[in-house]
Amino acid sequence: TAVADPAPTPASSPADSDLVRAARGLPVRRTPVWFMRQAGRSLPEYRALRAGTRMLEACQDPDLVTEITLQPVRRHGVDAAILFSDIVLPLVVAGVDIEIKPGVGPVVAHPVRTVADVDALPPLEPDRLAFLATAVRRLVAELGTTPLIGFAGAPFTLATYLIEGGPSKEHARTKAFMYAEPQAWGRLLDRLAVSAATFLNTQVDAGASAVQLFDSWAGVLSAADYAERVLPHSRAVLDGLGDRDVPRIHFGVGTGELLPLIGDAGADVVGVDWRVPLDEAARRVGPHRSLQGNLDPAVLLADRATVDREVRRVVEQGRAARGHVFNLGHGVLPETDAGVLTHVVELVHELTTR
Ligand code: CP3
Repeated sequence: TAVADPAPTPASSPADSDLVRAARGLPVRRTPVWFMRQAGRSLPEYRALRAGTRMLEACQDPDLVTEITLQPVRRHGVDAAILFSDIVLPLVVAGVDIEIKPGVGPVVAHPVRTVADVDALPPLEPDRLAFLATAVRRLVAELGTTPLIGFAGAPFTLATYLIEGGPSKEHARTKAFMYAEPQAWGRLLDRLAVSAATFLNTQVDAGASAVQLFDSWAGVLSAADYAERVLPHSRAVLDGLGDRDVPRIHFGVGTGELLPLIGDAGADVVGVDWRVPLDEAARRVGPHRSLQGNLDPAVLLADRATVDREVRRVVEQGRAARGHVFNLGHGVLPETDAGVLTHVVELVHELTTR
């Protein structure tokens, strides 16, 4: 005889949340939604709070980190918070001279251009991350059953900023260094992996329920170069979590050709940008990993009918995956209307409530 499904019970803890369940491929109450860059300039309350404080100072102030992280959770009802911080923060805390220029991104005062520059990079002392542990503990206490996602920048993407000296399109200097100085390249990425692991582990030990490794610019590499010269270092970051039992999300932009490898680096969830539909991405990563994504952030600048149609398409294509975490294919654009983000959360929930 058929037995009716019991009505889903609310999550009892962040570890039982739909975000964590989808990441592990378990049944969910409804598809979880959050947005990369959900904390940021799309929110007037963020702009007000940040006024007069430099980005990298704000990231080291537990009061500001806590409040800014909570803002999008309160406003949009997203299914996860992501720590307000930045991928370059572990380098900054270690003593590397980096500034985040508004509208530009991270700018490095003394770019890494020689083998000696690699060897001169200061290590990250874990006890300098006390402010981070404080912010995470406070957040976890405030968030109740909503999970907090911790994150770090992957070694390759951090290396692009260190070597180029700032944002770049082709990452030509980075690749030139990778080909010309394979040993120093390996040492650089080893070091970046160690500090990324320290940064992640601090967040998980303070209570983060999931982690995301951002390798935003890995899509500029061929699969062969990625597999040989980058993947082992990203794997070292994720392996560095040891037996910390939190799902691992691994994301990059333009990684269509790399999706199986991004998974192989040790991900429970592969983040996908808008270029590859999720049903095709599911074929590429196989049945043992979940997917996160992949609405084009630019769609949120279009009319409501277009937004709704594209959200429905992503939800439908996401059903092909082992588990689906709804997100954008990259970060929220600063000019996005905050009301549209709230609407997307409501629509995904409405379309997927069982
Ligand atoms: O809400 C969240 O997603 C959490 C916070 C977060 C920030 N940066 C805050 C931030 C996260 C996860 C990041 C990661 C990050 N930082 C990445 C990987 C993600 C991605 O976008 O691919 C990268 C490449 C960086 C480096 C970086 N920091 C860039 C390119 C910029 C944008 C520069 C600009 O002004 O356009 C930053 C600054 C930054 N990091 C802002 C925020 C909210 C904007 C700062 C401001 O308000 O002026």
